[in-house]
Amino acid sequence: MTGIEELLLSRIRDVQDYPEPGVTFKDITPLLADPAAFTVLTDALAEISVRSGATKIVGLEARGFILGAPVAVRAGLGFIPVRKAGKLPGATLGQTYDLEYGSAEIEVHAEDLSADDRVMVVDDVLATGGTAEASLQLIRRAGARVAGVAVLMELGFLGGRARLEPALEGAPLEALLKV
Ligand code: PRP
Ligand code: MG
Repeated sequence: MTGIEELLLSRIRDVQDYPEPGVTFKDITPLLADPAAFTVLTDALAEISVRSGATKIVGLEARGFILGAPVAVRAGLGFIPVRKAGKLPGATLGQTYDLEYGSAEIEVHAEDLSADDRVMVVDDVLATGGTAEASLQLIRRAGARVAGVAVLMELGFLGGRARLEPALEGAPLEALLKV
């Protein structure tokens, strides 16, 4: 494990039985509260974004906003929010996706992305991959290309990488930590 990986991992707190019994929640708030660790994280995700040739950063509400916004500033790129349905005031594109029970919908302002854009999606966690997959569908429907997906942490046992693979169409999925 690299020094960066060790630092990031040391600032993520496991919370047992949250939000329900049997689930271990990965709490990133200690990392956010540590400016040195948050800077290391931001720089790493920004470097991935610049290297990929991205023109825009998409952050996925809510925790993807916390990480994606400083990454966009650091990379010198625009930040585009993908929000949970009903929060954006302009003309939107929406994408529904399945949850364990029921479904969810995310939206983007249609005018925020164009055919000239290559988009890097930033989020904290890749779990089942459903949220990221829906975001890639939105980006393509908005006419833009996908530069990749960059996350702090991939929960390998949930199989999100395999689920996301077809939607990536060859673009990279970069996870700083695999747990
Ligand atoms: C969490 C997490 C990822 C998503 C990963 O978001 O922040 O966005 O789940 O899960 P998946 O790969 O199975 O789709 P969630 O909407 O639960 O909470 P948040 O609003 O705090 O980001
Ligand atoms: Mg989230």
